[in-house]
Amino acid sequence: MKIISDIQELRDHLRGQNRASFVPTMGNLHEGHLSLMRLARQHGDPVVASIFVNRLQFGPNEDFESYPRTMQDDIEKLEREGVYILFAPTERELYPQPQEYRVDPPHQLGDILEGEFRPGFFKGVCTVVLKLFSCVQPKVAIFGKKDYQQLMILRQMAKQFALPVDIIPGETIRAEDGLALSSRNSFLSVQERDEAPELQKALREVREKILQLNVYSTNTLSEIEKIAVAQLTGRGWQPDYIAIRQQSDLAPPSNESLQSGEPLVILTAAKLGKTRLIDNLEV
Ligand code: PAF
Repeated sequence: MKIISDIQELRDHLRGQNRASFVPTMGNLHEGHLSLMRLARQHGDPVVASIFVNRLQFGPNEDFESYPRTMQDDIEKLEREGVYILFAPTERELYPQPQEYRVDPPHQLGDILEGEFRPGFFKGVCTVVLKLFSCVQPKVAIFGKKDYQQLMILRQMAKQFALPVDIIPGETIRAEDGLALSSRNSFLSVQERDEAPELQKALREVREKILQLNVYSTNTLSEIEKIAVAQLTGRGWQPDYIAIRQQSDLAPPSNESLQSGEPLVILTAAKLGKTRLIDNLEV
């Protein structure tokens, strides 16, 4: 595997390649990321991964400094997956000047759910992803469904800017007890790790309740959300949201869309101790 930090050198290496398959990451790679590398291999060649902890997507009180950085370990994992290039730019390389041009996703998608609790997060994500696309110029790019809203926003960005890249979703990989794999799981204490699968269980309960309804109404759905939030809170979590949304645009469903069978997704973010976890479940 070639490890490249320089944009020009990356372009030199990829010159003439028009089927590159790209997996952007922030490192601290786990089985979830590695499954995305395997998916990338099915969709293009060569496979290019990136590792860059993107300051722009962290709020002032978030965990940018403490975000786990495990480069040597990550390199070994990517080598085992047969990744051709690891692009690991320094901040100086990717942001040689303050990044003043930014990609601002539309309010109705970028400022809800994660965007409401992490203001500016999706602006930072879109900006870095557009820039990474411009460096790698991939034919396809893979993003995990664990970051459901991020995936949707990046798809819309690619569509609205007519970027010549297909965005392909990768399934969420879970531990045996149901906890979605995430780099932030390493922050959990032993007791918190035991409790953490309850987040996925809460989503499953919400889904069961939805599936058992005879009559769908927005009022009933918001009751179901409130009960789930109260239950998690009772177990010591600090939930930011448990939200039942339309899969198509993440808007709250209307009574009409519920009657017409609009597919739904349940999304959640909640803090356990100091660690904020997110997860989702399609209905
Ligand atoms: O999902 C992530 O790891 C990051 O948000 C991404 C897409 C690599 C952008 O920094």
